[in-house]
Amino acid sequence: MEPLFFVVSIIAHRLLTRRASWHSKLAARYIPKVEQARWAIADVASEQRFTRVLDHFRECGYVVISGVLDDEEVESAMFKLWDYLETASRVTSSSSSSSSSLSRDSPSTWTRDSTPWPATVEGGILPYFSSGQSSAAWYIRSNEKIINIFRRFWGVDRVLTSFDGILVWRKSVKTETGWFHIDQNPTRKHSFSTLQGLVNLVPSSKTSGGNVLIETSHKDFPQHYENNPLYSPRLAELNGEDWLEIVSDDPILKRYKKERKIVQLELGKGDVLLWDSRTVHCSNSSTSKLKEGEVDRIERAAVLVSMIPEGRVSEECRKERRAAVDAGRTGSHWVDKVAVLGAEREEEAALERERHEGMKREGENLGVILSFSEMTEQMRELI
Ligand SMILES: [Fe+2]
Repeated sequence: MEPLFFVVSIIAHRLLTRRASWHSKLAARYIPKVEQARWAIADVASEQRFTRVLDHFRECGYVVISGVLDDEEVESAMFKLWDYLETASRVTSSSSSSSSSLSRDSPSTWTRDSTPWPATVEGGILPYFSSGQSSAAWYIRSNEKIINIFRRFWGVDRVLTSFDGILVWRKSVKTETGWFHIDQNPTRKHSFSTLQGLVNLVPSSKTSGGNVLIETSHKDFPQHYENNPLYSPRLAELNGEDWLEIVSDDPILKRYKKERKIVQLELGKGDVLLWDSRTVHCSNSSTSKLKEGEVDRIERAAVLVSMIPEGRVSEECRKERRAAVDAGRTGSHWVDKVAVLGAEREEEAALERERHEGMKREGENLGVILSFSEMTEQMRELI
C-alpha cells in the first residue's frame, strides 16, 4: 500500500469511526465575533428594564448579566473551588501510586503525574468527585442574587436548583473546540423548556477561549432537526436524551457563519451567562500556548447553574433529588430529572461512589462536599 494512501485510509477510518459514534469533534473552528449586549443586575431588578432583558434572551437565545458577584464573592468561590481540586487530587493520589497532590500555590504541580489533577471531560469540565455537591457549587447556587435572577426569568417565587458541576481550564491543557451542540431533544421537547447558566469566575478574553453561542439558532429548533436525514439516525439512538451534536457538514453552520451569528463571549469576573437549551453552543479552547518557562495559570473557571420553578418538579423527583444530595451526585442542567452520573455503566457508578466517600473523608474538615444535614435552610429549599 502506498504510504500516502495508508495514512489517508487511517484518517478516513478514524473519521468514520468517530462520526459513527457521534462524537465527531469535526466541526470547523469558526472565528467568532466577540461582542454581546450586556445587562446589569439592576436591569434584572427593574420591572421596566427586565422586559428588555427578556426580549434580548428571546431574540438571541442567550443573555449576559454582568458583575452579579462582587470581587469578594468571586474570591470566596475560587477558594472553595481550590479546596475541591486539592481534595480530589489527594483522593486520586491515595488510590494510585502517586505520592503527593496538587497545590493551588504551586502551578508546577498542576500537570505533574505524581500530583494528579482530578479527571476532566472535554479538557476542562469536572463532573466527578461529587463536584455537583461541592461547597463551591452550593456557594454559588445559594447566592441570593443568583436565585433572584432565576426567579425573575420564570416569574415565580420558588425555584429548585440543578446539581451541575464546575469547570476549570489550565493554560497548559488544551480543551476541546468546536463541539457545537444543543441540550434539548427536538423530537420530545418542541418549545422552550429551560434555560441553562453559568457563573464566571475568571475573566475570559479573545485568546483565552470560552463560551461560543450561535445567536438566534434556537429559532431553527425543532424544525431544522426533525425529519432531517443528517439527524434522524442520531435522534433514533438518543431515545429521548437531550444532548445532540451538530453535524459538522450541516449547511446551517455555514449560514450562521455568513450571517455572523457565531459569538464568542468575553465574560468578566462574576458575570452570569444564561442560554436557552435550544441555542447551539460549545466552547472554544485557548488560542495561545504556554510558552517555555511560563508559569501555568487558570484561564477559565465557572460554576454551572440552572434553576426552574418548584412547581415543575414532581414529589417523586424531589425525593430522588434529596437522595442524590447525600449520595454526592452531580447532575445535568435538567432540574426535573435526576440523571445519575455513569448510571448506564455500573463500573463508572461504583467508581464515583468511591470518589464521593473519599471526598467526604479527605475534605471533612473543610466541608468540601456538603450533605443535606450540613446545608443551610436556604440551600435545602432549593432541593
Ligand atoms: Fe451544552
